[in-house]
Amino acid sequence: MTALSRIAVIGLGYVGLTTAACLADLGNEVVALDTDLRRVAVLRRGRLPLYEPGLAEAVQRNAAARRLRFTTSYREALSVAEFAFIAVGTPEKKNGHADTAQVIDAVARMRNEIQGPLVIVNKSTVPIGTGNLVRRELERAKLAHAVDVVSNPEFLREGSALSDFMHPDRVVIGAESAEVADRVAKLYEPLGAPIVVTTTPTAEMIKYASNALLATRISLINEIAWICEQVGADVKIVADGAGLDRRIGRSMLEAGVGFGGSCLPKDVRALASMVRSSGKQPELLNAVLAINSDQRRVVIRKLRECLGQMDGRRVGLWGLSFKPNTDDLREAPSLDITRELLRLGASVRAYDPAASAQARRLLPRLSIRRDPYAAAAGADAVVLMTEWNEFRELDLERVRRMMRQPVLIDGRNVYDPGAMRDLGFIYRGIGRN
Ligand code: UGA
Repeated sequence: MTALSRIAVIGLGYVGLTTAACLADLGNEVVALDTDLRRVAVLRRGRLPLYEPGLAEAVQRNAAARRLRFTTSYREALSVAEFAFIAVGTPEKKNGHADTAQVIDAVARMRNEIQGPLVIVNKSTVPIGTGNLVRRELERAKLAHAVDVVSNPEFLREGSALSDFMHPDRVVIGAESAEVADRVAKLYEPLGAPIVVTTTPTAEMIKYASNALLATRISLINEIAWICEQVGADVKIVADGAGLDRRIGRSMLEAGVGFGGSCLPKDVRALASMVRSSGKQPELLNAVLAINSDQRRVVIRKLRECLGQMDGRRVGLWGLSFKPNTDDLREAPSLDITRELLRLGASVRAYDPAASAQARRLLPRLSIRRDPYAAAAGADAVVLMTEWNEFRELDLERVRRMMRQPVLIDGRNVYDPGAMRDLGFIYRGIGRN
């Protein structure tokens, strides 16, 4: 099969690597670049520098078919590229704004190696206006070749990155001209998704708005969960009942220990700081963040209600990653909760199917166990932090017998409260007692 398009992908984290593998799967010739030599060396050996179901196979498949190769050289990446996707990190600055240094650096390095007409497609989450800024800078540089800048935010989730990329709800393209937008749209045509073509700032804003809307739903349902506990309602059934209204929908309405990860918290804070910079208080976004950090305290409060003093108590944690099917601990609620339990004098034993190695580095005083039973053995309480599927299939009778006290705090509302009580647990979910 002849290659459809020649594409460079700059930055090989979750987004870049998934984009590279999926664009190669669609038949394009992809050169994927990262400046981290070790990361590229790992990828060349067909291994992954991160945990993402199915991604290793996709990388190996496309590398074997010679549609995907890895490099640290901008010259090599750009030698024949018609499109250059940027998917580098935009970490948070002290003032909450997103730091675009890596995006700017990638563009500067590319500029010296452009060898023909190029469309730069930005997937990194950047402050509104960055695309236009980069475009103007490149225009001022009067390069020998035509270079366009397009915003194309990514909406994939960790843990389901490949299927989210291949089956998106929409593709958003922010471009200066219909012709350039059309060329980028063609890359996505095989996916059959609705394509929103707009200006660059609007596309950049869609990304922030989407994550802020998702985070707001989670904090709202967590606030409703709080009220449910006071009035004896069950938040899961409330979410079902409200979610059947098509205007509302059921997704992102799981009450629990709150949202974590590398995106929602950071992007809400960045949007809040944009509001502040424009001279207004981000009242709603502040509340979304405040409710979210309070959800960590809810777990500690429930433990204290059941156990009194935490000093000398043993607590088992099931799951550490910020969500299932990833080993990512960035802003994971488990980190705050573990630190607080240790501060209160409790000992903490945890099990996670994927994040143990990372957790050992971040929390040296956390004791990591080989399975959920070992984490629960001798515990005064177990807290379910992450709804990995394997926690749904446990022999809970056995778990209860192993524990010193049968207290189970279900931070993700995985279990049925009635069934848990029948099994003899002192069970506390979030918003359903
Ligand atoms: C999120 C967005 O969902 C993606 O669309 C976006 O592309 C990505 O950020 C990004 O900006 O890169 P992700 O952080 O991978 O994706 O995971 P989510 O599935 O959104 O979960 C985020 C957090 O919210 C997790 O901690 C999860 O446990 C929590 N959550 C999710 C809830 O507490 N309740 C819910 O109902 C859903």
